Amino acid sequence: MKLLESISKRHSPRSFDIQNVEKEKIELLIEAARWAPSAFNNQPWRFFVAEKQKNIEFYNNTLNCLVDFNRNWAQTAPVLILSVVKTTYDHNNEVNKYAFHDIGLAMGNMMNQATELNLFMHQMAGVKFDKMKELLNLPEYMEPVSIIALGYIGKIEDLPTDIQKVESEKIRVRKPIEEILNYSPLK
Ligand SMILES: Cc1cc2nc3c(=O)[nH]c(=O)nc-3n(C[C@H](O)[C@H](O)[C@H](O)COP(=O)(O)O)c2cc1C
Repeated sequence: MKLLESISKRHSPRSFDIQNVEKEKIELLIEAARWAPSAFNNQPWRFFVAEKQKNIEFYNNTLNCLVDFNRNWAQTAPVLILSVVKTTYDHNNEVNKYAFHDIGLAMGNMMNQATELNLFMHQMAGVKFDKMKELLNLPEYMEPVSIIALGYIGKIEDLPTDIQKVESEKIRVRKPIEEILNYSPLK
């Protein structure tokens, strides 16, 4: 018994190769997200794609929505995806309390597909959300969620020196199973 490769191979790098991501592959990632389940099949996820090679102005404006630390490394990514969630249900305009849950499912699908294509994604919540809202001209019921760096993996040596250190010393850790399984606060 072993984990799916799309789970075990996935990680969030901070260095990306200069090579652009093929249009068909970007489309397939969105297609993977599209098929995620959601409460009332509301599909609350929305995506905007900023490609360095195709629309440098939108790409740079997206970079400017990141906090400095993230901007420093994310600028190596050829593609940035902006994710947004619709916080109300289509059928009755009530608050959709599962909206963030469901965009998480869509992101999970997207990441599995990305790994399958040898691509890597790094999600970021270190975002200036007011700026992102303004950039995308979002109405009140649409909430900016994250910006995701996407591309083929690059060399750590190509990163700015301060980030090289953070990246090379990074250790991937997880909570032990006992902490997340059958967890009871009363124990
Ligand atoms: C919603 C979300 C927000 C994140 N925000 C940032 C961020 O702003 N900057 C960053 O460097 N990493 C960010 N990360 C990456 C996490 O730190 C990373 O996923 C976690 O440490 C686990 O590492 P792994 O993805 O390599 O397994 C974020 C991840 C998620 C899912």
